[in-house]
Amino acid sequence: MTAALRVAALSRRFGGVVAVREVDADVAPQEIVAVIGPNGAGKTTLFNLITGFLPPTSGDVYYQGRRITGWSASRVAALGVIRTFQNLLLFGEATVVENVMAGCHRWTRTGLLQAALALPAARREDRQVYDAAREALALVGLEARGQDPARDLPFGQQRLLEIARALAARPAVLLLDEPTAGLSASEARGLVALMRRLRAGGVTFVVIEHNMDVVMDAADRVIVLDYGEKIAEGPPQAVQRDPRVIAAYLGEEDAAPDGTAAAAAAPAAATPPETRPS
Ligand SMILES: Nc1ncnc2c1ncn2[C@@H]1O[C@H](COP(=O)(O)OP(=O)(O)OP(=O)(O)O)[C@@H](O)[C@H]1O
Ligand SMILES: [Mg+2]
Repeated sequence: MTAALRVAALSRRFGGVVAVREVDADVAPQEIVAVIGPNGAGKTTLFNLITGFLPPTSGDVYYQGRRITGWSASRVAALGVIRTFQNLLLFGEATVVENVMAGCHRWTRTGLLQAALALPAARREDRQVYDAAREALALVGLEARGQDPARDLPFGQQRLLEIARALAARPAVLLLDEPTAGLSASEARGLVALMRRLRAGGVTFVVIEHNMDVVMDAADRVIVLDYGEKIAEGPPQAVQRDPRVIAAYLGEEDAAPDGTAAAAAAPAAATPPETRPS
């Protein structure tokens, strides 16, 4: 089967820092892949390379077998490869529903001129866009906040809003950069349930995630980066026990207060193998 996404020997250098080093990876259609790794491991840079926000120094990116290396972010998004941002990118003054409507622009047909002249086709499409935005908001549980300015939402809900905007783009592949950061435990569980439902409907996921509970619960497969390199890959349980992964997290100074990967990995390292839960 052709991979939904594939990267081959992908590298990105910033001056003396190799943020992503010779990474090979693929993601099958309708797979949920988690990307984990300590701070500065290169996770966000990998997303930037895949989605055209940064060109790679070397290596290639493929979408459904088609080489898209060096494509602009808007061209990549037009394929249905949609991402969210670790540092949210919302229009704070605009309303919640307007923020989501911005995501619809990938599939709308009406040109700016038609819209400006308010031709019937444009008005029909406006209605469609509005309805699609409301639907996306309902998926993340924000339907009641549609008319509020985006900046009035608490941080966790702003993250859900960004996810709603990505959903409104009708993604084929959705790349989420730390989607549960700032979410309550129940919001995070809701998001995992939503990902499962969307996957059943055909969406492929790549998720950068620090919360190991979410990783264990949601991911089919985990890719671990450390200093830009892929150091492990496999089912969540196996990766969590991998000595290289544990070592990478133990080396991280701001070890995880809240059930993040470091906290989850550390006890496993300190526990003799025979007493570890399997
Ligand atoms: N635009 C940039 N210019 C210079 N250096 C950068 C740039 N973007 C990332 N880096 C560096 O590349 C490395 C990887 O950063 P990246 O943001 O990809 O890590 P990350 O795994 O997403 O970390 P975090 O968990 O903190 O989000 C870091 O050393 C970072 O300082
Ligand atoms: Mg990051």
